[in-house]
Amino acid sequence: MMLNMSLTTPFAVYVHWPFCLSKCPYCDFNSHVRHGGVDEAKFVRAYETEIAAIAARVPGRTVSSIFFGGGTPSLMQPSSVQAILDCIGKHWTIAPDVEVTLEANPTSVEATRFRGYRTAGVNRVSLGVQALDDVALKELGRLHSAQEALDAVAVARSIFDRYSFDLIYARPRQSLDAWEAELKRAIAEAAEHLSLYQLTIEPDTPFFGLHKAGKLNVPDEDLARDLYDLTQTVCDAAGLPAYEISNHARPGAECRHNLVYWRGHDYAGIGPGAHGRLTLDGRRIATETEKRPEPWLMRVDAQGTGITLEEKLTAGETADEYLLMGLRLAEGIDVARYSALSGRPLDAKRISILREEGAVETTAEGRLRVTQSGFPLLDAVVADLAA
Ligand SMILES: C[S@@+](CC[C@H](N)C(=O)[O-])C[C@H]1O[C@@H](n2cnc3c(N)ncnc32)[C@H](O)[C@@H]1O
Ligand code: SF4
Repeated sequence: MMLNMSLTTPFAVYVHWPFCLSKCPYCDFNSHVRHGGVDEAKFVRAYETEIAAIAARVPGRTVSSIFFGGGTPSLMQPSSVQAILDCIGKHWTIAPDVEVTLEANPTSVEATRFRGYRTAGVNRVSLGVQALDDVALKELGRLHSAQEALDAVAVARSIFDRYSFDLIYARPRQSLDAWEAELKRAIAEAAEHLSLYQLTIEPDTPFFGLHKAGKLNVPDEDLARDLYDLTQTVCDAAGLPAYEISNHARPGAECRHNLVYWRGHDYAGIGPGAHGRLTLDGRRIATETEKRPEPWLMRVDAQGTGITLEEKLTAGETADEYLLMGLRLAEGIDVARYSALSGRPLDAKRISILREEGAVETTAEGRLRVTQSGFPLLDAVVADLAA
């Protein structure tokens, strides 16, 4: 199927800042520590070069959201953020209601830059609070205390109309009662959006080694499931239902940038290790850039982008990606769009078995979605339905 990209289709730009002050022992994101400092100006010039090169390939788009993720983008100077935003605005049209999010770590030093980010054009921050418990924060290797995180949230609230923060639950030794109290306290501090992630033990992290050695007492499957169910109940009651498996918002306050990924729209990935999805000549292309910051710089110098992998997705791959991403959303997927993308409908028999098991349901609008009780089994449901 030829994909048609109208000017009104959402188009997002993701900018990855790959540096952190220290590496958290659970994290496998593309983040690097540079004790000798980072030549920020040099990186910003390379981001500008990469933006220009990608915009030359997908010109004429209207940018509906920009997301500075990391790593720790709140280590960037506001002037760097400004320069990158100006460059995006030079090469594409910026929608009047563009959402510009920056991920920030909640230390006091970083919070002092919030006003500068707002002046630069950022209109939403997402803070990595992770826990409101000092013992847990220490175990997670975080550099902030619970009070410092709450202070940073208060600064965010005073500067931005829209802010969100992240918490990690199903942490070592966490009980249902303790999580309920912590979550309620977080909700009292939240505005319209919260990201609540179950701790994942990622391979090649220090937590993985500790877990394997039996030194990390994380909740078993049953307790993790109860913690997940409790999270849904508490958030629903507070008017913050899950619109995605780990993301909660008041209706209308969803992160528009993340919706671009989950709804299968295009996004440019800028910076070390950023992924992109672009429609070129009617075909969907997956891009990936060099992950290591300095080799990424060298590649941008040599070829204009840090892209190391560029793959034309087949119709089946494009459709399955839509299924995989779309079923994470409470709104589910448009089955007609799946059929149009893949050239064949979803298997009605498999859907009916999953429906009988209570894992999926069809909405009043005819969309297919995973039920709340089916969400913890999402991977299995997707595997069952994919081509
Ligand atoms: C890419 S991180 C960047 C945010 C920022 N650097 C910070 O740490 O505050 C985005 C979020 O992913 C979540 N995260 C990272 N590793 C995780 C893991 N192993 N399990 C669950 N959540 C994780 C954390 O909540 C984190 O805030
Ligand atoms: S969780 Fe955030 S601060 Fe910690 S290493 Fe990962 S990206 Fe960096």
